[in-house]
Amino acid sequence: MHDNPFRPGFGISPPMLAGRDALLSEWREVFRLGAWSPYRAALVTGMRGVGKTVLLNAVEDAALERDWTIVHGTLHVGLVEALEHDRLPAKLQEQDPEAVTRDVTGLTVPSVGGVTSQLSKRYPREPRLESMLARLVELAEARGAGVLVSLDEVARESLDELRRIAIAVQHLLREDRRVAIVAAGVPASIAAALEADGLTFFRRAQQVRLDTLTLAQTRQAIAEPIRQRGRTIDEPALDRAARASEGYPFLVQSIGARAWEYQTHVEEITTDAVQHAVEVAYAAMGESVIVPALRGLSGRDRDYLLAMSEDDGPSSTAAVAERMGASLGNAGKQRARLLDAGIVVAPERGLVDFAIPRMRDHLRAHPHDAQLGLPTAARETFRDAGATG
Ligand SMILES: Nc1ncnc2c1ncn2[C@@H]1O[C@H](COP(=O)(O)OP(=O)(O)OP(=O)(O)O)[C@@H](O)[C@H]1O
Ligand SMILES: [Mg+2]
Repeated sequence: MHDNPFRPGFGISPPMLAGRDALLSEWREVFRLGAWSPYRAALVTGMRGVGKTVLLNAVEDAALERDWTIVHGTLHVGLVEALEHDRLPAKLQEQDPEAVTRDVTGLTVPSVGGVTSQLSKRYPREPRLESMLARLVELAEARGAGVLVSLDEVARESLDELRRIAIAVQHLLREDRRVAIVAAGVPASIAAALEADGLTFFRRAQQVRLDTLTLAQTRQAIAEPIRQRGRTIDEPALDRAARASEGYPFLVQSIGARAWEYQTHVEEITTDAVQHAVEVAYAAMGESVIVPALRGLSGRDRDYLLAMSEDDGPSSTAAVAERMGASLGNAGKQRARLLDAGIVVAPERGLVDFAIPRMRDHLRAHPHDAQLGLPTAARETFRDAGATG
């Protein structure tokens, strides 16, 4: 009867992008071609599930509204190749009437390969990434717009690809051409990019550290989509749902979706529905967020987290070192790596706390996950569903 408005998962834009208005208006300024803005080159970072990808989507939408050309890529080995041989030629063919009339004449049905070879005649200079991007910018400028290069999932393994693209963009930026670049990744990957040779350009880029949502933003992110789809949520239920999410966007959507689908035939979403939703969403956190985050860590890093999980709140770094049987200096290395990976935060000197909601509880319930990363939380969701319904 009612379609579920919530979007649990990764990379799927939520019905209401809460708490990012101020940021988005910075980018709107860029696309409006107002005063020169530092957001012309920006690096977006934040923990897993905080909303980097959907922010990039929203930035791209803002650019499209101003008729900008979008060059989007998820970083992986081979991205530059794909851009040069496939995506940029396709965009150029779409936009460059000259290239089409002059080079594609005589081709009845231009296949992708055909287009590539025709266009490489038109853009013969090496490196082609630069020349194709420059031509796209030229075409966009002619209609009073520009080109946005939007790159997701910056990772250590693909820094070479990032470097190639960054160099091309940097040339254009230096000439004050209408180009903007935004790249997103988890803190450890962005830190690696900032340290890498040939990427010093990013050190001057605008750093955007995405935070979890405030309580007010969280309430809005839950209540507004429900209201817009013609249902209601009572105040205690809304309060419970918002607080249980801890403002973590992934959980906001996950709890919202499950509360919505609990009893779709009744108009009001009650505390019962939310209670059920929170249990299921918490159990699913293990599989979706926590185990994947643990997988990228070393055994020692995971020991550090296990030692932290003994505390109910922030842990003293000295106590954690002692529990691990490590020197303060050695435990400090683990701590630095975990901070970098966006897994822990340092609320004050000498203290360390979990950054990802539910991680403490998950490690207590499934300490073996810290050793092996064995998925067990999925089974848990079935047990939960059996107990309540
Ligand atoms: N501002 C927001 N308001 C409401 N929901 C949001 C917001 N930002 C993100 N979400 C939701 O949170 C979830 C995770 O978002 P997203 O995939 O963008 O995270 P991410 O930071 O890219 O994660 P990863 O590091 O794994 O790539 C999605 O379900 C998305 O709809
Ligand atoms: Mg993402």
